Amino acid sequence: MADVGIIEDGAVAVQDGQILAVGPSAELLARYAARTTLDAAGKVVTPGFVDAHTHVVYAGDRVAEFEMRIKGATYMEIMAAGGGIVSTMRAVRAATAAQLAAETHARLDEMLALGTTTAEVKTGYGLSVKAELKLLRAIAQLHDDHPMTLIPTFLGAHAVPPEYQGRTDAYVDLVVNEMIPAAASWRASSSFVREKTPFFCDVFCEAGVFDAAQSRRVLEAGRAHGMTPKIHADEFENLGGVALAVALRATSVDHLDVTPKEEFARLAASDTVGVVLPAVNFNLGGCHFADARGLIDAGVVLALATDINPGSAPTPSMPMVMAIATRYQKLLPAEALNASTINAAYAVGLGHRIGSLQAGKRADILILATSDYRHLAYEFGKNFVATVIKEGKVVIEGDAIA
Ligand code: NIG
Ligand code: FE
Repeated sequence: MADVGIIEDGAVAVQDGQILAVGPSAELLARYAARTTLDAAGKVVTPGFVDAHTHVVYAGDRVAEFEMRIKGATYMEIMAAGGGIVSTMRAVRAATAAQLAAETHARLDEMLALGTTTAEVKTGYGLSVKAELKLLRAIAQLHDDHPMTLIPTFLGAHAVPPEYQGRTDAYVDLVVNEMIPAAASWRASSSFVREKTPFFCDVFCEAGVFDAAQSRRVLEAGRAHGMTPKIHADEFENLGGVALAVALRATSVDHLDVTPKEEFARLAASDTVGVVLPAVNFNLGGCHFADARGLIDAGVVLALATDINPGSAPTPSMPMVMAIATRYQKLLPAEALNASTINAAYAVGLGHRIGSLQAGKRADILILATSDYRHLAYEFGKNFVATVIKEGKVVIEGDAIA
């Protein structure tokens, strides 16, 4: 992870949206006659960032809760009092699919400008059959309308909606018996099937939300309908989410803030990627971060993601996440970059198609306005992304502040 495989004076040859070859400029220029060339002299060329955990489709904001937390309320207290995820649920239920898509389109633009070329996107602010389907439709529409590649995740079990207050098992019944089959048949008619895009099922396994048994029910039902498991685990309390993720061969287990060290070896021995979301800890004003250093040293495949959402992580920026991870989780800039590209690609089941500059992969490429990739994490609060190339086409040009 500490090796990003730098090629000095390198070049990337692209054809039909795919990477044809990567190597020294002299060699590639001699081998291929390019119709167009982009000069990246003095700059750094990297794969586009993969944001492996987002809740980017939402309506409204939670700036009032931001102030409540500043005055001392905790995230889980606000949620228990009927705010948090449920307050965004109200805004989402009241919004049309077109409104959701329009609000989210603007956020995807911001993410793209900061270098994200692929993002996983969760539902989970609908919490009814109808509203969860509305979110899935918005994700599909955005995938078609926006240059970014989106990977859908069904997260009907994100919170218990007010109409099921105190009846969590009954809500899990609804998720298992109605929402999951409805989501599966939606997917069957969407463009995601043709493109062989993975479809994930996720659950918020947390004290006061869904326990391990309920989480297992949801993920097993999802799998029976062709959805691959992912899980939010160990954000505030450890309910055994890592063991569950490994047992269910989940693609990723996300958060890992309070995962006991004894669990690291179990995760390392599995194919499940550990995703840490340090923008959440930063945003909630805590000083505790997931032990990403320990996870990497134990041999876990570790990825970083924003978790962009209106409550716990209102940020579109993977470079910001790298800035936090290098300082508070002791990742080297190289490790942070690998965790945001190739490992993140594996965290969304697309390690074979994206996440690195290699022949045969999708030509999702960034040109950074710096001659040293480490500055991406070292300097913060600015945007080094000068050019974004998505499937071989320049989609952002010359916007960098640097
Ligand atoms: O990953 N933890 C659960 N879900 C999100 C938060 C979503 C929200 O607060 O709206 C998370 O942190
Ligand atoms: Fe999340």
